Amino acid sequence: MERIVIAGGTPLQGTVKIHGAKNAALPIIAACLLTDEPCTLRSMPTLTDIDVMRHILQSFGAECEWVEDSLNIHAERLHSHTIPEALMREMRSSVIIMGPLLARHGKVSASYPGGCAIGSRPIDLHIKGLEALGAKVSEEGRGYITAEAKQLVGADIHLDYPSVGATENIMMAATLAQGETLIRNAAKEPEIIDVQDILNVMGADIAGAGTGQIRIRGVEKLRGAEYTIIPDRIAAGTILLGAVITQGQVTVKPVIPEHLEPLLAKIREMGAKVTIAGNSVTVVCDYRPKAVDALRTLPHPGFPTDLQAPMLAALCVAQGTSVLTETVFESRFKHVDELRRMGAMVKVEGRSAIIRGVERLTGAVVAATDLRAGAALVLAGLAAEGITIVEQVHHIDRGYVDLDSTFRALGGRVERLGW
Ligand code: EPZ
Repeated sequence: MERIVIAGGTPLQGTVKIHGAKNAALPIIAACLLTDEPCTLRSMPTLTDIDVMRHILQSFGAECEWVEDSLNIHAERLHSHTIPEALMREMRSSVIIMGPLLARHGKVSASYPGGCAIGSRPIDLHIKGLEALGAKVSEEGRGYITAEAKQLVGADIHLDYPSVGATENIMMAATLAQGETLIRNAAKEPEIIDVQDILNVMGADIAGAGTGQIRIRGVEKLRGAEYTIIPDRIAAGTILLGAVITQGQVTVKPVIPEHLEPLLAKIREMGAKVTIAGNSVTVVCDYRPKAVDALRTLPHPGFPTDLQAPMLAALCVAQGTSVLTETVFESRFKHVDELRRMGAMVKVEGRSAIIRGVERLTGAVVAATDLRAGAALVLAGLAAEGITIVEQVHHIDRGYVDLDSTFRALGGRVERLGW
């Protein structure tokens, strides 16, 4: 069982390279199922979640091979339309394969992905969207659902909630539908724009990603593409919070600075200095950060839920009391119990956490419960007095490439011990 061991108290200093965005890479791998021509995806992050998607595509008969940090995908002939249950359970976001497979194959079966540490993770909006495009969706029992459609037909679809995955699923399915599709109240995350951009390189006709309304005009066929995905704004934000919590100076590049704006605004509020220069962002924190009185996670361009746990860790050592409200997922505070073991003064009331900043955390043995919670515990260990041991690090490896060596390169005393 691998563990990350941290001796805290050293201010982080230096520059680190940011890997490609996990939450762009996953839907974009699924998009390659829409064509029988080869695709090359560059700047792909070597994460366990990417490998799960690779194995799912291979189970359909598609080629999906690493060449350095690129993935070569060729879904020329597909001999299956069922997403393997074990892989679906391992990574619930594989539900975004349903749209492309349905559009390409006319049929797709998947087991309900089930919940995870941060919430029940329903897929009702995905199903409603595919049904609006003309799919017949049936439950086969054993928790399996099947969607079928000889030919998808464009529709005007209003999402009850701006779901990232549902927006991506519907957008991808609609590329090969007959006629025009409109997705209203669509998610606006930067990763949605990345999915639109590669689909248009493949010959799709999409406009509006990043706004609340996306228009897709169906086409006959999509061709292969070579594409470089965007940098990971969540990994970049997590690492920048390392400068805040350890009172150091960290530069991340390449990044797209505007993707980080919701976080940078809060980091400035905490009293740290933010400098943007082209595709790099530097945060300098010369003294103990200040509390933020009210922070709510919201769909983009609000503060991202994926940075809630790392931000909460930084607020644990801030001067003053902060209130952080998680509006996106119903139970994304499992890291609070672990932070309390390190001396954090945090109280959770419903969807809000009240964080009374302390001068110093103390090292402890803690366990990651999901990828962002795990990253938050590593951040807390970097600032804590003494030794912190973070267990269940496989969660962290789902979303961060070598997080331990990244912080070591910034001067953090961090080791990964495996047995
Ligand atoms: C994506 O998950 C991301 N994952 C998540 O990142 C991220 O936290 C989330 O978007 C929000 O930004 C990937 O992109 C692979 P949603 P997704 O559908 O698509 C409810 C990480 O840490 N909902 O926008 O699953 C749902 O329950 C991960 O990298 C429905 O009710 O998120 C949740 O409360 C974690 N019905 C809210 O919407 C549905 O059909 C947001 O979910 C779908 C969602």
